[in-house]
Amino acid sequence: MARVSKPLHGGNIYRVARSLACDPCDIVDFSASINPLGPSPHVWKAIASSRHLLSHYPDPDCWILRRALAAFWRIDPDQIVIGNGSTELIDALPRALEIHRLLVVQPTFSEYAAAMGRAGRQVTALYADRTSHYAIPVDRLCRAMERGRNEGRSFDGVILCNPNSPTGQACMVGDLVRLAKVAHRQGVWLIIDESFADYCSDRSVLQRAVSWPYVVVLRSMTKFYALPGLRVGYAVSAYPTAGRLQRQLPPWSVSVMGQVAALAAINDEAHARKSLVFMKQERERFQARLTALAGCRVIPTHANYCFVELPRGQSARDITERLRTRGVLIRDCSSVPGATSRSVRLAVRTRMENDRLLRELSQLLLNKDSR
Ligand SMILES: Cc1ncc(COP(=O)(O)O)c(C=O)c1O
Repeated sequence: MARVSKPLHGGNIYRVARSLACDPCDIVDFSASINPLGPSPHVWKAIASSRHLLSHYPDPDCWILRRALAAFWRIDPDQIVIGNGSTELIDALPRALEIHRLLVVQPTFSEYAAAMGRAGRQVTALYADRTSHYAIPVDRLCRAMERGRNEGRSFDGVILCNPNSPTGQACMVGDLVRLAKVAHRQGVWLIIDESFADYCSDRSVLQRAVSWPYVVVLRSMTKFYALPGLRVGYAVSAYPTAGRLQRQLPPWSVSVMGQVAALAAINDEAHARKSLVFMKQERERFQARLTALAGCRVIPTHANYCFVELPRGQSARDITERLRTRGVLIRDCSSVPGATSRSVRLAVRTRMENDRLLRELSQLLLNKDSR
């Protein structure tokens, strides 16, 4: 039987556990960047008290969740479309917006190109510069968008990941406003993936997007709210765009428990505050310790992960593999276009887990040939 190959993503603890013959929960996962404090305690209570809903279909309109998100962001519920993770929305956007060629800024999340491929559409790339810490090249992007169709512009949509995965770089709001204006003038779609923007809310344009006809902002409940297993994400846009996107989604794509848990999660402000305080402190400590590992280059980050170039002579693939055999999963980024053969992405986890990774990593780097 032919094996189906899927794009590689972080977080596949199941595959690693199968290969090590252990329980998936024994794997320490630095490859998917999930809030290490876990979901809000309110989520567990909400799930337990909603068990009776399992024998019914979920609300296909996600009405209560949409209304709560709308109140949270002070926008209209009709400007929000909820999907089975932001991945489902990324998948639907090329069809919904009739994007035929999408510009991506590499290195970035591979699912944008994968979704275009599944829709039989094209992708074109602009590369962020490694020597400037992969800062998002806003001026070059503006110039590329400014070119009219008859002046050789080959794309009709742009996707920006802000903050970007895997690099952790984020555009300032002023730059995003500039890009949105050009998008409007040129009739180019601008999709801004804010899946990690909970960690840098001063870089978000979500609330402005509702008045920009060519902009869609994506959010995820996976990362900051730590609900990857429940699959909830949403898109925010002007009304006609939201309608176009909604029509591309299958009914009931967001489960009962996904809706219930997401609602409980956004209502727990105390857990959100605690998570931000924790991340700020632990990320600083983790970054400093990583930087102290001889030869490692740590890119400044606005998210809950660090993009790291391992020392010269090391291979991201090899180190990832050797950590895997020790039950530690990191994201090998060597195959991400624009990254190097030494690039890895490391989630910031609990202090104890981070110390374990730092210990294992420094042993492997010091003793390159020991297996
Ligand atoms: C940048 C980015 N956007 C979107 C997603 C998809 O998130 P989800 O479908 O879990 O909401 C991911 C997942 O890794 C991601 O890294």
